Amino acid sequence: MKEPIISVRGLRYSYPGSDDRLVLNDISLEIFPGEVIALLGANGSGKSTLARHLNGLLIPNEGQVVVAGLCTGAETNVWEIRKKVGMVFQNPDNQLVAALVEEELAFGMENLGVAPDIMKVRIKEMAKRMDLERFLEFPPNRLSGGQKQRVAIAAVLVIEPDILILDEPTSMLDPAGRREVMEQVANLKKMGKTVILVTMIWMRQQQRIGL
Ligand SMILES: Nc1ncnc2c1ncn2[C@@H]1O[C@H](COP(=O)(O)OP(=O)(O)OP(=O)(O)O)[C@@H](O)[C@H]1O
Ligand SMILES: [Mg+2]
Repeated sequence: MKEPIISVRGLRYSYPGSDDRLVLNDISLEIFPGEVIALLGANGSGKSTLARHLNGLLIPNEGQVVVAGLCTGAETNVWEIRKKVGMVFQNPDNQLVAALVEEELAFGMENLGVAPDIMKVRIKEMAKRMDLERFLEFPPNRLSGGQKQRVAIAAVLVIEPDILILDEPTSMLDPAGRREVMEQVANLKKMGKTVILVTMIWMRQQQRIGL
């Protein structure tokens, strides 16, 4: 039987300074390689807090999160986990940091010490796959919301993570932008990636693109 790629056991979490108010109270779940999972819940229910636990941005107060066999609680694992889990935040404006799309795609790889010649090849391939070739020399702020979101996803994918967490990637987009991003999610599934999608509009989109 397949091993889960993400395993959460008895996770409890309260933000520092919140008088121990539990945002996550005894959460357990398993996610298997290649699954596309929707994380649904009302505003403030803790979806983003849970998502931030899955790549070690937050560490449980109690219980544990194990990603590809690595416990997020061990400081020595954090770097390895960041390589395995890519996270795309709700607002691409908060995620995009570089002056040009091309530099944006290089940024994460530079941090991980990828050799420049390998970087170039990966950027070219990723731009082609994500239909961003004509934007490589553009500053991200000249792109539409959907295009920016594609850049944010490409910038994470180019690091070649096995797991993608997309936190409400379509909530700020118009219907065309939403469809672009959701088609990308369908592609990730085809590529065999494990995808965790925080969303409130899953059912409609799911039906539309046949996930
Ligand atoms: N940095 C923080 N410090 C203190 N409390 C926080 C922080 N971030 C979130 N919270 C609180 O934790 C709870 C869960 O928030 P979270 O952002 O995880 O919810 P969510 O399900 O992602 O909501 P939304 O649908 O609005 O994105 C909320 O009550 C929120 O006020
Ligand atoms: Mg949220």
